[in-house]
Amino acid sequence: MKARIVSDKVSLIGAVDWDRRLFDSLIPLPDGTSYNAYLVRGSEKTALIDTVDPKFTDVLLEQLAEVPALDYIVANHAEQDHSGALPAVLERFPKAKIVCSERGKGMLIDLLHLDDDHFAPVADGDSLSLGDLTLKFVYLPWVHWPETIVTYVPQEKLLFSCDFFGSHLATSDVYADEGRVYEPAKRYYAEIMMPFRAIIEKNLEKLQAYKIKTIAPSHGPLYANPQFIMEAYREWVSGAPKNKVVLPYVSMHDSTRRMVEHLVSALVERGVAVEQYDLTATDLGKLAMALVDPATLVLGTPTVLAGPHPQAVFAAYLANALKPKLKFVGIIGSFSWGGKTVDQLTGMMGNLKVELFEPVMCKGLPRAADYQALDHLADGILSKHRELLGAQA
Ligand code: FEO
Repeated sequence: MKARIVSDKVSLIGAVDWDRRLFDSLIPLPDGTSYNAYLVRGSEKTALIDTVDPKFTDVLLEQLAEVPALDYIVANHAEQDHSGALPAVLERFPKAKIVCSERGKGMLIDLLHLDDDHFAPVADGDSLSLGDLTLKFVYLPWVHWPETIVTYVPQEKLLFSCDFFGSHLATSDVYADEGRVYEPAKRYYAEIMMPFRAIIEKNLEKLQAYKIKTIAPSHGPLYANPQFIMEAYREWVSGAPKNKVVLPYVSMHDSTRRMVEHLVSALVERGVAVEQYDLTATDLGKLAMALVDPATLVLGTPTVLAGPHPQAVFAAYLANALKPKLKFVGIIGSFSWGGKTVDQLTGMMGNLKVELFEPVMCKGLPRAADYQALDHLADGILSKHRELLGAQA
C-alpha cells in the first residue's frame, strides 16, 4: 500500500497484515492487524515514527524509496512488530539516529543487536526540532512494556501512541469507524494492557496536559475523535465493575453443563447479567475481553486426572495473569470419586483480590440438592453485587 495522507506533513506508511491470524504465537487475530509507521517531514529534518514487523521490511523500504534523507527514527516501543525493520532502515539511512527511551535502547540492543552509536536516547519531556515541527517525547511505561514512550507533535496536535489505544484491525480506512473499532480496541486492551490498569490510569491523566486532535497508534486505524478511545479506556480501566457474571466452563459428560445452565437461569431470574463461554470453543481474546468489566467470575469444570480440566486451568491462569477488576470468584463442577479441583484452581488465582463463594461441586449428575446449592450461589452473587454496586444491581 502507498503512503496515505494524515496531513501535509505527516504520512501513514507501514503495512496492513490482512491475513495474520495469530500474534506472539498466542493471541488470535480475527480481524488481522496493521503495523503503522509514520513519516513526519519538518522544514529542516525528517523523522520516521516506528517501523514494521520484519515480514514487511520490503514494503516499508519501498515506501521510503523516494525519501532523500532520514534524520531520526523514533522507536516508541522496542517490541519487534514495530522495531523489526530497524536494522534494514538503518542500512538504507546510516546517519539516522534512533530516538527512544534509555531503557528502550538497552532492549533494542538486546533484541536486534544494534550498535550503541546509532542511538540518541531521550528522557521524559525532551523535544527535538524538525524545523517547523517539534517532536516531544512522553514516557508512558507499561502500555504494555516498561520502556515505552509516545511522541507528540504540538503544531499538529497529533499523538503517536504506539500500542496504546491500538487495535488489531486490518482496514484500508485511515480513520476509525467508531462502531467498527470498539470491539477490536477493547479486545486489544484486554489482551495486553489490562494487567497494568493502575499505571494506565496514571498515563491517561498524564496525557490530559496535551491538546490532542488526532491519535495515531501503531496498530489499527487513527482516531480523529480522541475522546472516543480515551473515554473507552477510562471506562475499561477505572469504571465500576458491572452487575455481571462471566462463566467460562468445560464439560465432559454433561454434569457440569447442566449445572452451568441451571446457574445461568437462576442468575438471569435474579437480574444478574451473564456471559457463558464454552472453553473448548472460545478464543483467548474473547475470554480476555469478557473479563474486562464483570464483578464476578464463575468457573465451571469437571474433575479429570484428580484436578480441574486443563481448559479450566487455562481460564484460571488467564484471569490471574490479566488481573481484571473482578471482586468475586465462584467454582462449580463435578467429580466421580474425588480430587483437588477447587484447591488447585483457587491456588492459581492468587493475583486476584477477590472474595470466594462457597464452591458447588457435585458427585456424578447433579441432584436436587446440587441445584439448590446453585440457587443459593445465585442468591449470594446477587447479594454481593447489591452490596458492591447498590442500585445498579
Ligand atoms: Fe505492537 Fe507491543 O507491540
